[in-house]
Amino acid sequence: MTKILLTGGAGYIGSHTYLALIQSGFEVVILDNFSNSKSDVPRRLQDISGKMVYCFNGDVLDRTDLDNVFAAHKIDGVVHFAAKKAVSESVVKPLDYMHNNIGGLLNLLAAMDAADVRNIVFSSSATVYGDTDVQPIPEDHPRTYTSPYAFTKIAGEQILEQLPNTWVVGILRYFNPAGAHKSAMIGEDSEDIPNNLLPYIAKVAVGELAELVVFGDDYDTPDGTGVRDYIHVEDLADGHVLSLKSLLETGESHTVNLGTGEGSSVLDVVAAYSEACGKDLAHTIAPRRDGDVAVLTGLPEQAKARLGFEAKRSLGDMCKSSWAWVSGQRRNKR
Ligand code: NAD
Ligand code: UFG
Repeated sequence: MTKILLTGGAGYIGSHTYLALIQSGFEVVILDNFSNSKSDVPRRLQDISGKMVYCFNGDVLDRTDLDNVFAAHKIDGVVHFAAKKAVSESVVKPLDYMHNNIGGLLNLLAAMDAADVRNIVFSSSATVYGDTDVQPIPEDHPRTYTSPYAFTKIAGEQILEQLPNTWVVGILRYFNPAGAHKSAMIGEDSEDIPNNLLPYIAKVAVGELAELVVFGDDYDTPDGTGVRDYIHVEDLADGHVLSLKSLLETGESHTVNLGTGEGSSVLDVVAAYSEACGKDLAHTIAPRRDGDVAVLTGLPEQAKARLGFEAKRSLGDMCKSSWAWVSGQRRNKR
């Protein structure tokens, strides 16, 4: 059976990808340092899948941790999720971001090379496109960075592009992941006040936060609020399965957007979430947030052509699954 290592596999996107891979018949091993995930995620994955979870508590910055995983398991391919991801924090702590995200990738690639594993899927981001009027954005659009976080993603892509052709690389540029697993047993989990829209609205819906602050209603968009290409995290997970299959079956590298090609405004999301949870959601309008762009949507055609990937789930599905997850968590806390 084909065995895949997920670095950062206990995180939001990694845990959903774990389940999609298991469901597709892969064996999966997780390496995570739990710096941004909860220690009970492996147990939850076991409960959902009914299968034993192999999880190493380790760091991609630690070469010994990586060598131990490759010695214990015959790995055929790696999906590298492990990274720090908060854009605003990266502005305050750029060196931490470069160390973890670029240093971690370099360390991982060296360990993979030593173990003769040269298939890798890399979590990149739509952030590599910077601020552009070209919408939806095609993959050949020039890259430019607007934050240290974005810099680390461009650097990661460039490092992978320098590898010899004995390596097979899938670069996946995610647009805005949202929603939770259909089991409502895993999802985006944050103790802090979220920076991102969906987890913030979710906290308003469960009553942990009083109201949503909408950052700007004076953009050049249909209702004046920011427009994004939200993609259900389970669709994103399916995209990783297809990416890995393509790498392993064709031996050819690819760089693709993972999005829907459709844009939704902040107010569209508020309306969809309100319908999902059956309540009005309080929101006020505030000035634009520094660094935000008006519109960010991705052309999904390459993912369809190269991987056969198409997002199937709607914004309503994202909101309903998020609500099932957060309201269930809330009940468990009581
Ligand atoms: P997440 O924080 O939920 O998951 C990342 C996981 O990596 C966490 O479990 C964390 O504990 C782990 N980790 C971090 N540094 C590590 C290290 N040095 N060693 C071992 N484990 C480490 O984030 P996510 O939303 O699941 O994102 C996964 C990947 O996708 C990241 O690379 C992120 O940059 C990228 N991405 C995310 C988004 C998004 O909006 N969520 C958008 C585009 C790209
Ligand atoms: N927004 C609000 N209020 C909030 C949070 C967000 O109005 O409390 C608005 C933003 O202004 C934006 C939209 O909701 O118009 C989406 O914002 P998010 O913070 O959810 O997402 P971003 O598009 O800003 O950023 C996300 C990831 C980044 C990644 C980027 C591109 O957080 O890591 O997508 O993929 F770089």
